[in-house]
Amino acid sequence: MAVLQRIKGTNDILPDHLGSGIFRSGLWRRLEETSLRVASLSGYHEIRTPIFESTELFVRGLGDVTDIVKKEMFSFTDRGERQLTLRPEGTASVVRAWIENGIGVSDAVARLSYLGPMFRAERPQKGRYRQFHQFGIECIGGGEVRHDIEVIAVFWNIIRSLGVSGVTLRINSVGCPECIPHYRDVLRAYFEPFIGELCDDCRERHRTNVLRMLDCKNPACQAVLSSAPPVTGHLCGECAASWDGLRHGLDLAGIPWLHDTRLVRGLDYYTKTAFEIVHEDIGAQGTIVGGGRYDGLVAASGGQAVPAVGGAFGIERMLLAMQAGDPALSPATRPRFFLVQIGDGVDDDIERLLSGLRLHGIYAMRADGSRQMAKQMRAAAKFASLEVVFVGGDEWNSGRLAIKNMDSGEQDTLVVGPAGVLACLLERAGA
Ligand code: HAM
Repeated sequence: MAVLQRIKGTNDILPDHLGSGIFRSGLWRRLEETSLRVASLSGYHEIRTPIFESTELFVRGLGDVTDIVKKEMFSFTDRGERQLTLRPEGTASVVRAWIENGIGVSDAVARLSYLGPMFRAERPQKGRYRQFHQFGIECIGGGEVRHDIEVIAVFWNIIRSLGVSGVTLRINSVGCPECIPHYRDVLRAYFEPFIGELCDDCRERHRTNVLRMLDCKNPACQAVLSSAPPVTGHLCGECAASWDGLRHGLDLAGIPWLHDTRLVRGLDYYTKTAFEIVHEDIGAQGTIVGGGRYDGLVAASGGQAVPAVGGAFGIERMLLAMQAGDPALSPATRPRFFLVQIGDGVDDDIERLLSGLRLHGIYAMRADGSRQMAKQMRAAAKFASLEVVFVGGDEWNSGRLAIKNMDSGEQDTLVVGPAGVLACLLERAGA
């Protein structure tokens, strides 16, 4: 019978010692815990929303001319004839939950974080999947520029805590309903004489979503696009003040930024601040973090007119960025001790030690199967164990403990004190 395979654009994430590259669950757990912890330092705490919602939520929230809504949603009709969609992103759901749970009543400025799978029917390639995962934060009710800075700083700090380097923060403004219609006219008029030279996507967007033309990656369009008038010359007073405040605040926070005049983002809900954090070395899918202000979304979703700002990163892409700096990506879960048996008659000693170590919260393992030394050592290496402890043999019998550091290859001999082997190992592990 043919073996069933996973769907194209999805991935299995295996235990560290079984997986390879970025698809190792210990790495994921470490990244998720770091992200949640760093975000919580600024008051962002986790919300969990359903993985599917009514299709209308995303059509209304993301905009019906966006690529996501037009061609990338996994939508289906359920048995009750309801139109449902696997969430392509988190913001629309978090806003829905904020309204539905009356969160604004108790927290005028609600700071929420979330993580989990998202679904988009994009063409799969490295860094782009159909089921991918995001970590995001939303600051709903935060209408001041300092909230924009706070959100960007959370992502900046997560990146630093994960040891990722080689990233650039790109910022722009996408204006507001007050000033952006005029800018759209300016852009449309600018592109008009060149329309015959541009790609099909650009031609369509010239009619439907002219801002997104700036985002086109087609080499043939670049010369025309790069000379397009920047939005920042056409902002209303309020958006211009916000744009000035953003750059000033980032400078104060010591976060370097680059003004990307063509940064417009792929979702329709943005107003004023738009930002992305891009890694220079992970290929075509180098945008790790994306976000911005979305002052109109809460009202458009049926809530009060409150301002909001947020952002999200792709977990797979963040791991690719970590891997760019550390190609081996050291596993997150390593046994502190791997007990290797020498000779017979020490089975009970090993089992007693394993129980004692685990009771004290220490990750400790022994080999399954063969008692051959080479096989046991291979098992220790497979799990990326930190130290091998030899149980049995002459040293053991004379009250000493032979321990091998698996990274350096160095061997140590410890004299076991009156408190016994377990106490000796606990002390060594600092437990
Ligand atoms: P987005 O730019 O669509 O924004 O996605 C954010 C990040 O998710 C991207 O920068 C990328 O790292 C990752 N991502 C997106 N699509 C894929 C894919 N197919 N495969 C792998 N990774 C992907 C949003 O989703 C907004 N909700 C962000 C936001 C939150 N804005 C305000 N609040």
